[in-house]
Amino acid sequence: MQRVLEPELMDDLGQARAYAEADFEEPNQSFVELMRSHFPHWSGSGALLDLGCGPGDIALRLAEQYPECEVHGLDGSAAMLEFAERARAASAAGARVTFVQGLVPGARLPRSRYDALVSNSLLHHLHQPEVLWTSIRALAAPGAPVLVMDLMRARSTDHAVELVDTYAAGEPEILRTDFYNSLLAAFEPEEVRVQLDAAGLEALRVEAVSDRHLAVWGVAPASRTI
Ligand SMILES: C[S@@+](CC[C@H](N)C(=O)[O-])C[C@H]1O[C@@H](n2cnc3c(N)ncnc32)[C@H](O)[C@@H]1O
Repeated sequence: MQRVLEPELMDDLGQARAYAEADFEEPNQSFVELMRSHFPHWSGSGALLDLGCGPGDIALRLAEQYPECEVHGLDGSAAMLEFAERARAASAAGARVTFVQGLVPGARLPRSRYDALVSNSLLHHLHQPEVLWTSIRALAAPGAPVLVMDLMRARSTDHAVELVDTYAAGEPEILRTDFYNSLLAAFEPEEVRVQLDAAGLEALRVEAVSDRHLAVWGVAPASRTI
């Protein structure tokens, strides 16, 4: 099935609220666990950047997991960052977390390079997916752990409906619609492989990790030249 684009930013307040209030405890904690299991030797010392951080739950969980880490979360949506700031104020690790409003690519960030880069569910929003990989390539310190997770494109619209009914049965309509649209906008692992190779990120692995998710992970290359 051809990719069907959805808007990049989730800047509608109702949409941001529905997303921020949804229960992503299990997938978000799994993201943190994957970070730990894929990079068991990474201590968390230094600075980590979360691209497309949305309401900030993963950024805050990572800050809690890695007590030496300074965490920056970047998102283009002011509405999402309003919820992220509220969550930050309520978190014991909030003092080590900074949320920044800006776009991938090109945002002004507090640092020019990071000791770890993560992103969850941003890739499928991007109309030009290569900007995620070139940004990671430019911002990651050599050897920095990189973990990106996203949805995988459904095989057909019927398949997307099936996935929404299976995994978002009791969710509000606004979230079900977002999920459906995202399943049509997402990439297949083979497409991501091509994107990674084109960005000079051959060393990163991409794999399907469920019937609807893919993961990209590995360490950033030594040279930042792209
Ligand atoms: C599906 S949400 C994921 C949020 C968060 N990573 C999570 O897992 O809960 C995608 C986020 O990416 C943001 N986004 C999309 N395109 C962006 C861009 N080009 N630059 C910055 N943020 C972007 C949206 O505003 C939205 O908050």
